[in-house]
Amino acid sequence: MDKYAVLGNPVEHSKSPVIHTMFASSTKQQMEYGRLLCPLDAFKETVDTFKKNGGKGLNITVPFKEEAYQYATTLTPRAKIAKAVNTLKFNDDGEIIGDNTDGYGFIWDIKRLGWDFNNKKLLLIGAGGALKGILFPILEQEPKEVYLVNRTIQKALDLQKQYSKLIVRSFEELNGDEVVFDYIINCTSLSLTNQLPNLDKKFIHKNVCVYDLMYASEPTRFLSWAKNLGAQDAQDGLGMLVGQAALSFKLWRGVIPEAAEVFIKLRELLHA
Ligand code: ATR
Repeated sequence: MDKYAVLGNPVEHSKSPVIHTMFASSTKQQMEYGRLLCPLDAFKETVDTFKKNGGKGLNITVPFKEEAYQYATTLTPRAKIAKAVNTLKFNDDGEIIGDNTDGYGFIWDIKRLGWDFNNKKLLLIGAGGALKGILFPILEQEPKEVYLVNRTIQKALDLQKQYSKLIVRSFEELNGDEVVFDYIINCTSLSLTNQLPNLDKKFIHKNVCVYDLMYASEPTRFLSWAKNLGAQDAQDGLGMLVGQAALSFKLWRGVIPEAAEVFIKLRELLHA
């Protein structure tokens, strides 16, 4: 049976095995998909062993996406732009394809929600790996203005060199601005520790839609904060997770699974 897994550290809470097992069953693919806990200093050895034992592909999660980028022998254009890989495919001839399906997953979810970034004002919070995976696909939607705010401003300024459209702000500068955003996307890891970004509440109004790339069984603190202040909509990253998984699955198996159905089932499971 063809073997796949999600590799990360930590990895025990990953929902990817549930998602891919549902995809395999609905598309009648003979495959198994597990979890692979990788020691922080042994990415290459762990992947080599998995591959030697007949592994056909991996999803890569925190904190190995940059190492996976180095490990691949062929990178898709998406992976090159993001400089990070979340999907590896091991071909029989030894080629290792590195792809990044995070941006696709995010845009898939935005469309599922009926949101539209075209000609809109966006605020992106955070400038780490998660933001980098979705930045180019966001800019492709041709928003009107894209503000980027980050605690370490230098990281945001580095991204501005690559993407001149970005308007970079520190939290203090931003909180002094009077911009009315249509969409605010939290790409920081703050929700993992139940913390809020230092964003003034004036940015939350009845027409703003808010997204947190993180997800949990309950709304993240950021989403509850925004909803309580009257945001029009507040959504977590569960849909993005299903969307990115669907494109990884297609890369490995050549068939597109029905991601929207799996998303509904997964949400139910998360609440159960
Ligand atoms: P990921 O791959 O999940 O994006 P990361 O690269 O470590 O992880 O980035 C985490 C993001 O959350 C960064 O934007 C980080 O801000 P810094 O670049 O200043 O580190 C942000 N972040 C994490 N903890 C934070 C905190 N306590 N306050 C503000 N921002 C924080």
